[in-house]
Amino acid sequence: MSTPSESTAMRDRFCGTLRTSDVGTRLAVCGWVAKRREHGEHLAFVDLRDHTGLIQCVIDGAVDVHSEFVLRVTGTVTVRPEGTLNPHLGTGEVELADCVVEVLATAETPPLSIGGRVESDEQVRLKWRFLDLRQDRMQKNLRLRARINSAIRAAFDRQGFCEVETPLLWAPTPEGAREFVIPSRHFPGSFYVLPQSPQLAKQLLMVAGFDRYYQIARCMRDEDLRADRQYEFTQLDVEASFVTQEDVFGFVTEAVLDAAEAATGERPGPIERLTWFECLDRFGTDKPDLRFGMELVDLTEQFAATEARALRAPTVKAMRVPGGADLARARLDAMTERAKQLGAGGLAWFRVTESGLDSPLLKFLSDEEAVAVARVDDAVPGDLVLAVADVHAVACRALGALRVALGSPPVAQGPHRYCWVTEFPLFEGLGADGAPLSAHHPFTMPHPDDLDRLESDPLSVRSQSYDLVLNGWELGSGSVRIHRGDIQRRVFSVLRMTDEEAEQRFGFLLGAFRYGAPPHAGFAFGIDRLAAIFAGEENIREVIAFPKTQSGADLMTGAPTPIAASQLAEVGIEVRPSPT
Ligand code: AMO
Repeated sequence: MSTPSESTAMRDRFCGTLRTSDVGTRLAVCGWVAKRREHGEHLAFVDLRDHTGLIQCVIDGAVDVHSEFVLRVTGTVTVRPEGTLNPHLGTGEVELADCVVEVLATAETPPLSIGGRVESDEQVRLKWRFLDLRQDRMQKNLRLRARINSAIRAAFDRQGFCEVETPLLWAPTPEGAREFVIPSRHFPGSFYVLPQSPQLAKQLLMVAGFDRYYQIARCMRDEDLRADRQYEFTQLDVEASFVTQEDVFGFVTEAVLDAAEAATGERPGPIERLTWFECLDRFGTDKPDLRFGMELVDLTEQFAATEARALRAPTVKAMRVPGGADLARARLDAMTERAKQLGAGGLAWFRVTESGLDSPLLKFLSDEEAVAVARVDDAVPGDLVLAVADVHAVACRALGALRVALGSPPVAQGPHRYCWVTEFPLFEGLGADGAPLSAHHPFTMPHPDDLDRLESDPLSVRSQSYDLVLNGWELGSGSVRIHRGDIQRRVFSVLRMTDEEAEQRFGFLLGAFRYGAPPHAGFAFGIDRLAAIFAGEENIREVIAFPKTQSGADLMTGAPTPIAASQLAEVGIEVRPSPT
């Protein structure tokens, strides 16, 4: 009758699992009162809810229960009378009759509606998170996340990876975000740092001979919060020795596809690959959303000798916006502003009409140029063509941002389109002091074909680093690491990092590398992001049990809070009043 996982000393079955095949069975269910209706003085209906769903309990006589009371109800599974079936409910053909009700706990009126049609305010949901988590949506999301974690763990176990836990009280890591610091009681004035990722620890595990490591790792970064960012988040973190990029792709792909299958019931096909340059050139971003077209088209050649000053530049990129001809002028002006904020000189727009192009720039275009614009991506009347002329990266990025703003479907919509992005540049421009900045981190191995340009033309050097992108979200990134002292010294020198600085920041890793470091490579992907996309949620908060608000507060516990002066004194800290 009952499956072992359902039955406990108090309960025989879950509420949401009862079906007509159970008719005639007398059994006990436990849960929360979702709804209660009285029919006169002698009959009451109580919908009892647990994480599997609702069951209607029919109670003879008066019963003093209210919303969210916790009950144990013993009753007989019965077919619902004709005309009272509920096709929207898994248990809608049955009910529990002849019920005996035990109140296990009473409840105050909840401050938010659970299971109601009206979505409660975000602040209220976060303040009363333990009640919000009773919602079907949150139950489903967190259980989906648990399935993803299990699938990932199984995939790495199967592939011979060893799970190792690394410290949370740790030293700075070179991931680039601001870090959370923890004062030390034994060493007043000194601080631990919460790990931005287990990056250095996992590289040390390679030196230690673990060969294949993984961890479902909590990471902490003190950065501004957004829909895809929390202070605390979870990475699937891996590292392996004696491997190439291809091996890493193999390990990670298997785990991600297993997780997708566990979450959605369908196994995606092979993951496609694009180089970083191709992504920028075609989609104007290094995290392309491949669910929709609107690819960038190159018009540089066609505009090489243009009279239109606005379109005279080293690169001219254009994009068709299907059906965009009716976008209001105010919207076009706002898009122009956006392009300018992204560094472009401006934005050219052309409405495609039955009688040709409509644009303030049209009078400056030659016939051939107008034809080239009208043919962008097989444009048809009713479409809009946008163009940006600038250096390649700026033109692509400006149009790429507009592509996402105008075309990106909601998270919940459409297929899951993964891609590996390879051959990222090793450096991402120059810092204030004129020194190149690491695009990933300073232990990323340069591309072997570009190594001889490391000093002479660093910004042209590609790296052996790679990202995994899903529907326009960066899921994860990784790289082949530098394990050779000579290459590491050259990279530090290009970064203008002195031996002393390198020693001070990463001495323990560089020291370890002197004792035999195997070639190694790794990767990490965000489980919060993966779970949010599979759950069709726009914000990773919806797949995290106890997240922070946008401003970093925990409304439920009140954290962060001031602490007692005595506690501060113990760690040698004096708090200055904040400037008003
Ligand atoms: P990276 O910094 O790219 O790489 O992080 C890897 C992935 O972690 C997730 N992530 C976040 N998720 C939620 N909130 C955040 N604040 C947040 N920050 C990062 C993203 C991201 O792609 N040590 C390297 C990996 C490696 O080289 O092996 C690292 O941490 O999904």
